[in-house]
Amino acid sequence: MTTVLPNLAASVSSFAKATEIETRSPNQQLLPLTAKVNDFDRLEIGGCDLSDLVQQYGSPLYILDENSLRVACQQYRDAFKLYYQGRSQVLYASKAWNCLAICAIVASEGLGIDIVSGGELFTALEAGVDPQNLYLHGNNKSREELEFALASGCVIVVDNWFELRTLNQLAESLNHTPRIMLRITPGIECHTHEYIRTGHLDSKFGFDPNEVEAVLEFVAKSPTLNCLGIHAHIGSQIFELQPHQDIGQVMMQWFKVADDKFGLKFTELNIGGGLGIRYTESDDPPSIDEWVKTVCEGVTKACQEFNIALPKLLSEPGRSLVGTACVTAYTLGSSKTVPNGRTYITIDGGMSDNPRPITYQSQYRAIVANRMSSEANQTVTVAGKHCESGDILIKDIKLPQTQPGDILVVLDTGAYNYSMASNYNRIPKLAAVLVQNGEANLILKRETYRDLIRQDCLPERLSLAERD
Ligand SMILES: Cc1ncc(COP(=O)(O)O)c(C=O)c1O
Repeated sequence: MTTVLPNLAASVSSFAKATEIETRSPNQQLLPLTAKVNDFDRLEIGGCDLSDLVQQYGSPLYILDENSLRVACQQYRDAFKLYYQGRSQVLYASKAWNCLAICAIVASEGLGIDIVSGGELFTALEAGVDPQNLYLHGNNKSREELEFALASGCVIVVDNWFELRTLNQLAESLNHTPRIMLRITPGIECHTHEYIRTGHLDSKFGFDPNEVEAVLEFVAKSPTLNCLGIHAHIGSQIFELQPHQDIGQVMMQWFKVADDKFGLKFTELNIGGGLGIRYTESDDPPSIDEWVKTVCEGVTKACQEFNIALPKLLSEPGRSLVGTACVTAYTLGSSKTVPNGRTYITIDGGMSDNPRPITYQSQYRAIVANRMSSEANQTVTVAGKHCESGDILIKDIKLPQTQPGDILVVLDTGAYNYSMASNYNRIPKLAAVLVQNGEANLILKRETYRDLIRQDCLPERLSLAERD
């Protein structure tokens, strides 16, 4: 496992050669797998010097390590092959970061994609992903989104009665037989932030266990709906294995009820995502391999117990695929030391490119990428540039002495950063580059000021130019 910050020179790995089989689980690292310190004492990822990337593509900048993302995809895929005797399919939960390049990479690794809106569906289709491998979620899909989904041929994961009835009607009127799954609240508790916990009973997502039998009856009687099976997701950034062991038992009970009481022969089970990643030294998530093994054992055991054939097993990891693969490089500007208080150093971004600290009190680690061997001998707080006192990315972190112009790299920003980004304070969204073997490719252009007003409308009567 990667060692502890702030002794960073030791914590970065040597560059993984293309032919090497990577055995480290990306989600257990603080840095992308290809991170190393180069001869100029600067941080490299994917063979690219981060200071050079900032020079070329501007600051702040998301930098995505292709190797880390691909290795994580391969580890999920290989582990399911190893531990599960039935068919399996890993879906990338693209809410973590949905864009053309990432959809294309994960699809090229054989993964399907979980999408939650018309916009995510559109992006995946534009990236060339086969709609057979797309699964649409959402607890309030609009009629337009449902029509779009029906036309595309993706699987629709039905969340509630309103959606089930609307979809049934739509499918009938359009003469479609959509492939659907049913999202069930499994009633499994886990320890994570309450905003990213979804499996407990008091959740806005999915059918309550009390209503599942009525739902199964409705589906069994519908001549139009082709129900493949059921889905559950218990939450995100989870380090415990037990909830993912239990989910097999809970879900296979519903397979049995569906068959015994309603003659529904389900063939697919989706157990969601949720495996956590290492944001700080004290985070200790299980590896991808351990998580998959646990899930497979749980489902296999439950199938034996209920005497049911192994279903096709789907999973939906997001954070553990893309989280560690990306870092965000910022340029340091002003600083302030409060008498007898904290020292604030300020970056040229903040809560608009990474809203997780202000939303979930998430913790991050950072390093000064242009002076990697400097001793971390001051405690500082990394502040963003937005007009919000809570716009603090990292509180009380040990860093080397810094100066304006230094490149501060915040680690593990691949998941729920770009996808949750905003234009708060009319700050343009960042560019992103994909790095691999010393090559960098732009995958998201930086927004311009012009982009910021592209959707603005100025009614003619308000035009200042026309006034005397
Ligand atoms: C339905 C569903 N599936 C999968 C995920 C992915 O979770 P994670 O990124 O923790 O793997 C989420 C995220 O919350 C989700 O809501």
